[in-house]
This record gives sequence, structure tokens and C-alpha cells, in this order.
Amino acid sequence: MKAAFVTRYGGPEVLEIGDAPIPEPGPDQVLVRVRCIGLNFADIVGRFGAYPGTPKPPYIPGLEFSGDVVQIGPRVMKFSGRERIMGYSKLGSHAEYVLVNQYYATVIPEKMTYEEGASFLVSMLSAYHGLVRLANLRTGERLLVHAAAGGVGLASLQIGRHLNAEVFATAGTDAKTDLARSFGAHHVINYTTTSFDAEVQRITDGAGVDVVMDSVGGEVFKKSWPLLAPMGRYLMLGVSSMTTADGNLTRAMIADAYEQMKPIFPPSLIHINKAIFGFNLGLIAGKERYFEQAATELLTWYNLGVIRPLVGKVFPFEQIVEAHRYLQNRQSMGKVVVAVSP
Ligand SMILES: NC(=O)c1ccc[n+]([C@@H]2O[C@H](COP(=O)([O-])OP(=O)(O)OC[C@H]3O[C@@H](n4cnc5c(N)ncnc54)[C@H](OP(=O)(O)O)[C@@H]3O)[C@@H](O)[C@H]2O)c1
Repeated sequence: MKAAFVTRYGGPEVLEIGDAPIPEPGPDQVLVRVRCIGLNFADIVGRFGAYPGTPKPPYIPGLEFSGDVVQIGPRVMKFSGRERIMGYSKLGSHAEYVLVNQYYATVIPEKMTYEEGASFLVSMLSAYHGLVRLANLRTGERLLVHAAAGGVGLASLQIGRHLNAEVFATAGTDAKTDLARSFGAHHVINYTTTSFDAEVQRITDGAGVDVVMDSVGGEVFKKSWPLLAPMGRYLMLGVSSMTTADGNLTRAMIADAYEQMKPIFPPSLIHINKAIFGFNLGLIAGKERYFEQAATELLTWYNLGVIRPLVGKVFPFEQIVEAHRYLQNRQSMGKVVVAVSP
């Protein structure tokens, strides 16, 4: 089969397409013919070798996909061998075939395309876990979403809106803030041209927000933490500010981003009455029931028209390097998808 390999840690150019054997499913695994790959920022951080648990090159990256089941392992009960599915594989989806544990895949609804299927699970599960399970976002609360036009960002806006929150969105261009508004944000701020913290203070009359969804970190964290009102919940799910548009991620940049996120002394959280959560969907192994319950609720919301994934741009497999570059250099809106087979 054709597969894209990370040949060494580094920028998009380290990806090379080559040949690999079609893998054999283990007892709980399903072999899937990949139709579309959904790119995630974690693919980029992993490619730089900066994501905990990233294997040594060469390896086949890719944690999200849609496709057709072609073979099932002996313990698989969930699929019969013909379904259109979307899944979360942790690694290996940048290929014509991928293995997925049966518990981390689900059937694609009839009206959902393969492109949308490859764009659904990771973003929606991240937003769901943060806003529903951890922050327990409630009607009338104020939610601030950073990088709001991205995959997780658009998912968070829609779920925030569904839970009747007052939604504030930041993004890096006016086209992105326009998109955020069309996906339900009540207030939008281009944080590359406007001081977002002053703007949030102004709109809320100094009261701040109840929940922050922060996947950017660094300076954005430094300015957002003080915006959190008493009883507030801060969700820290990524540090995309540690990469640059020209394809760099160095130890110095990681150190700089971390330096800006001043250490939080746990007892001080009592006195200021704020909570902070970190989470990592990559560590979902062993949480099969959780995945099932969350995916079921998200698909119910999808079928009711409450949430939908936005396929921002589709690249052919041969242009996987360009697809990575497009996501890394902040050009993307919604999800970046790579079409593997028609
Ligand atoms: N913890 C978890 O379980 C989990 C799960 C999924 C995703 N994540 C994290 O959530 C974040 C979003 O992931 P995603 O796949 O949906 O990506 P994305 O938001 O679609 O794309 C990344 C966005 O980050 C913003 N950004 C800010 N500073 C940046 C910089 N220096 N370089 C590049 N981008 C920068 C850009 O939006 P603007 O131009 O609007 O700033 C960019 O479009 C990532 O940090 C990812 O690691 C975490």
C-alpha cells in the first residue's frame, strides 16, 4: 500500500510517500481502506517529535480517518466487514489502509460524506470533553474560545451555542472571525490586530468569562487566565503557539511558550476560586465506554443539525506535504482533509 512516512523529525518536507505492507488486524482491530485523512495539529507537533509518545522515524503518522471496513479481527462484534466508518487510530492513518481498535471507530451517518467523516471525531470529542464533561458549561455562562475558526474551535463554538452560552471567539484574520460568527459566536475578536483581553473586559464590563477553551497557550494563556471570573474553569488543551509559519518548532520556542504560562500554585486556586483542566485525547485508551457515549451523543446532535464539521480544504494524497504546511502555517479554516482514494 501507499503510505506517507515521517522520515525524520521536522517540518512538512520530512514527509515522504513510499510503500508499506498492508497490516493484519489483531483480535479487537478492524482493517480499513482509507478514503480520507483528517489532519490535526497533533500530527504536526508529533512530526516535530514534540508530542509525548511519538515513535522514532520512520513511522506512518495520522490519527483520524474515514473509510470502509475490509477485514475484522476475531473478537470484533461492532462491525461486520462492510461499513463506512470514521475512526481514531492514534497513528497510521496517512496510508491507503489503517488499523483501528473497534472501540474507537463508529459508523458514518448516511448523509455524512467521507470528507466530513474524517473531520468529525477528534475536534468534536475534544470540544465535548472540555465543555460538557470537564467545564460543565451552563446556560447563560460566558465562554471564550481561542483559534475559533480551527477544527476544535468551530466544534467548541457550536457546542457552546447549543448549551446556551454567550460565546466569545478569537481568531487570527478577519475571514476567520467572520467564519466564527457564522458558526454561532456572539462576539468575535481578531487577536492579531486587537487586544483581545481588553476587548473582553470592555464587553463584559470587567466581569470576565466563565470558561476558556485555550489551544494556543503562551501569551494567549497569560492574557486569558486573568479574564477568568471567580468559579471559572480554564481548559488547556494545546500549545499551537510554539510553532511558526515558516515551519519551525525548536526547544527554545517550546521554552518560550511555557515561560509565558506562569506556574500556577494549586493552593492559590482556592483563594482566587478558579479551576484549570488539562486533557489529552491521545490517552483515551481504556475508555471505550466513554468514547461510545460521547460519540453517540455527538452523532445525535449531528443528526439534529446542532453541530456539523466544516471541511475547509481537501488535498489529494500526493500533496500531503502541502496539506501539512497549510495547517501548520495558520492558513486553514475548519478541517484540512487529504483524499486518499475516491
Ligand atoms: N488535548 C487534546 O486532546 C487535543 C485534541 C485535539 C486538538 N488539540 C489541540 O487543539 C489545538 C487545535 O487543534 P486543531 O487540529 O483543531 O488545529 P486548528 O485549530 O485547526 O489549527 C491551529 C490554529 O491554531 C492557531 N494558532 C495560533 N498560534 C499559532 C502558531 N504559532 N502556529 C500555528 N497555529 C497557530 C491558528 O489559528 P488563528 O490564526 O486563528 O490563531 C491555527 O489555525 C492544537 O493545539 C491541538 O494540539 C488538543
